[in-house]
Amino acid sequence: MTAPVRVEPLGVTFHLAPGETLMTAAQRAGYWWPTICKGSAQCNRCAVQVIDGAGLEPRSAVELAGLRAVRWLSGQEDERDRLACQLTASGPATVFKRGVKPLATEPTQTDPTQTDPTQTDPTQEET
Ligand code: FES
Repeated sequence: MTAPVRVEPLGVTFHLAPGETLMTAAQRAGYWWPTICKGSAQCNRCAVQVIDGAGLEPRSAVELAGLRAVRWLSGQEDERDRLACQLTASGPATVFKRGVKPLATEPTQTDPTQTDPTQTDPTQEET
């Protein structure tokens, strides 16, 4: 059974498999999640603020160490802070995280003023 975790302000719900982290579930669903360390609890770029954490599993020792090493370095700990690369859930929850976005599925737009030299003009006949 999966746990639905909603991410605001994006307004998207990711369904976490047992033991799966929020960041991994989002990436599996085709979303980009801010990260530098790629999920090793070192950069804190993935951090979220918990809005409703009823279904979240408690922090692991790895997550606590990661938060204390960067985000809570001043000693001021905030119960709402979680690392999405470590956060797992067994029930519904809602978190806040800016910067999460769908990976591009559309081809990038090209500049219409630029011409592709490999393309021939179909209105011109070859002689
Ligand atoms: S991705 Fe770096 S701490 Fe979570």
